[in-house]
This record gives sequence, structure tokens and C-alpha cells, in this order.
Amino acid sequence: MKILSVFGTRPEAIKMAIPVRTFAAAEGVESVVCVTGQHRQMLDQVLSLFEISPDIDLDLMTPGQSLERVTTRALEGVSEAIRTHRPDWIVVQGDTTTAMAGALAGFYAQVPVAHVEAGLRTGNMASPWPEEGNRQIIGRLAKVHFPPTAKSQANLLAENIDPACVHVTGNTVIDALHYVSDKIEQDAALAAQIDAAFDFIDPAKRLILVTGHRRENFNGGLDRVCDALARLAARGDVQIVYPVHLNPQVQRAAEEHLRGAPDVHLIAPLDYLPFVRLMSRADLIITDSGGIQEEAPSLGKPVLVTRDTTERPEAVEAGTVKLVGTQGERVIEQAARLLDDEAAYAEMARAHNPYGDGHASERILQVLRG
Ligand code: UD1
Ligand code: UDP
Repeated sequence: MKILSVFGTRPEAIKMAIPVRTFAAAEGVESVVCVTGQHRQMLDQVLSLFEISPDIDLDLMTPGQSLERVTTRALEGVSEAIRTHRPDWIVVQGDTTTAMAGALAGFYAQVPVAHVEAGLRTGNMASPWPEEGNRQIIGRLAKVHFPPTAKSQANLLAENIDPACVHVTGNTVIDALHYVSDKIEQDAALAAQIDAAFDFIDPAKRLILVTGHRRENFNGGLDRVCDALARLAARGDVQIVYPVHLNPQVQRAAEEHLRGAPDVHLIAPLDYLPFVRLMSRADLIITDSGGIQEEAPSLGKPVLVTRDTTERPEAVEAGTVKLVGTQGERVIEQAARLLDDEAAYAEMARAHNPYGDGHASERILQVLRG
């Protein structure tokens, strides 16, 4: 059986890393990896950490790229890879342009498509944009769906997808998180080496870790959040560490509002290993990232999500993740509540695993084997 895995951005690489390693180690399976290179630097860090050497690299990223350009180049490139390698399965992950174009290429070539992290929905095509649309398109094209949770399974069944084609697996991000956490825990020298790179962190001040990159927040949302962060840091008893996404729009907002602000550290995107270490050291995470909403509950870290909607309701319902939107006053008020009210903090800082048990990749392989 030949499996062609297609991915291209940082989160897809993190979430496909253990599935790809599982396919490669399986007897009777030929694993072929096609990366689109939708992200370049942020993808390459992940490939190197998980020791994955792609068989095909479309290397398509350009600065400030448009959605249509990534779509057309990925569609052509993945189609070519399918013609060359003639796989039995195409596996795509999540909701990016790469995932959508990869699924479309499989559909056109009449090769069955398997969708990892299927069934996440907000029901609002404008938020997250364009990811909700990508998910719905892939949902129509895929032959096999791997929702991470019972809720995402229910979303697919409500869209009349054949229940026999839907298999709940847990999210592969938890597989990756376990792999990396074990690596850090088992190697004190490695942990010390990572911590040495964070010697600018003041142990006397509480640590707020921040990320942000959603396109629907480009029109003012990111600016408001960055401005609120500067005001939050001015409290004097906290410090903000913000690894800034390489998207030029994100860089601009962070530079404009936060460069030079006291107790704010703007840094380059971190490799996954140090980023996991930093999440586990943080007191609070403020983010609009999808993957971080899934990882933080398992690390017992409260998350304030700077979005109005989420397709990951499980941790919100459990009370460890809270949607706060992008209005500055609300972001500051909710962060201050956690910083100043011990009971409110304890209520949100509970470790739980709504998104998986670390064995999603094995379940995916088992289904693909039939
Ligand atoms: C993409 C995905 C989004 C996902 C996010 C994860 C789409 C439409 N968007 O958004 O769903 O949540 O990745 O991070 O698929 N850049 C670099 N180097 C990199 C990565 C990005 O320079 O390693 C810059 C480039 O200028 C690039 C720009 O960021 O053109 C935007 O990248 P793109 O993948 O189009 O969008 P993201 O906002 O990263
Ligand atoms: N991440 C990372 N380095 C960083 C910021 C995030 O390795 O500097 C990881 C994070 O742990 C998560 C993934 O990248 O697994 C999330 O990626 P991103 O926020 O870019 O995309 P999303 O999950 O929103 O699609």
C-alpha cells in the first residue's frame, strides 16, 4: 500500500509528523511525503525536528502570497506527484490551502483522500476565514474522515457523511506533543540547553506567552490585541513573550504596537521543542492559534483565545479555554482576572485531554490498511 502524505505549513507538519513516521515504520506500507512548502522556514524547523525528508518539495512559498496562487501551484504540483507516484491513498490534514488543494488533486485523479482532523466546524464561513471553507470542501471530497473527537464526528454525520467512513482517532497533535515532551523530560541536558536560550525571562514576573496570525483578525483585530498587550505588560508584574509569525501583516502589527514596550519580548517563531518548553513554563497563554488551543489543556495552561468563534469547543466547555475576542478592554480584563484572582486561575489551570490520548496515528494507519 502506498500512502502519499501532503502538507505544507507549520501546524500541518506538526500534526502529520507522527502519522508519517508511523506509516514509514509500518511493514507493507510505502510512505511518500509531498510538501508544498506553503511555509518555508516554519515548515523546515518541524521537518528537521521529526527527521522527515520529503520525497517531493514544491517549494512554492512567496512573500505575502495570495490564496489563489498557493491553491493553483499546490494543485498542479500535487497532481504531478500523484501521476509520478500513483498512491493508493492521499492523506491531508486540517484546513489550510495546501490541505484543500491536496484533497482536490486527489479527487481529480480519482485517488481516495483521507482527511486527518476532519469535522471541525464553526458553521461561519467568515470565521475562521478561509479555513472553515477549506474544511467544508475537504469534507465533501474525502473518502475517509478522521475526526479527533465525538463532537467533530457528530458534525460530519449531520452533513450526511456515511458513518462507515468516519473514524474518531483523537488529534495527532497530542501524538506530537507526547513525542516532544518525552524528549525534553528524558534529557536534562537538552532541557537546560533550551532554557539557556530563554535567559532573558525574569523568574520574578509571571509569564504570558502570546501568538497570533488569523487572517480574519488582520482588519484591526491584531492591532487591538497588540495594543492591549502593551497595556497589560505595563502592570509591571508580568512579562510577555511573543514569537511573531512570519506573515508580514502579523509582523507589522507586532512591530508597530509592541517593539520597545517594557516587559515585552518580541522574538522569532520558535522551533517546536522550545515552544513546547515555553508553553509548559507559561502562566497564561493568549493566542488565536488552533493547535495551541489543543495542546495547552493537556499541559494544564489557561488559554484566552483572541477570536469570536472556535471550531474547538471541547476545552471551552470544560472551562480551560476562553474566547475573549479582539476588543482590547476585554482582553485586558480577562487576563487581569486570571492574574489577580487565584481561584479563577485555579479553575482554568486544570490539565485534561479532550483532544486525544497520543495514539491517533496508529488508529489512522489501522483504518487505511482496511
Ligand atoms: C497559514 C494557513 C492557516 C494556518 C497558518 C499556520 C492558509 C490560507 N492559511 O496562514 O490556516 O493556521 O498558516 O501558521 O492556508 N511566511 C514566511 N515564512 C514561513 C511562513 C510564512 O515568510 O515559514 C510568510 C510569507 O510571507 C507568506 C506569508 O507568511 O507569504 C503567509 O503565509 P500563508 O501560509 O499564506 O498564510 P498564513 O497566514 O501563514
Ligand atoms: N508553534 C511553534 N512555534 C511557535 C508558535 C507555535 O512550534 O513559535 C506550534 C504550536 O505549538 C502549535 C502550532 O505551532 O503546535 C500552531 O501553529 P499555528 O499557530 O501557526 O497554526 P494553527 O494551529 O493556528 O493552524
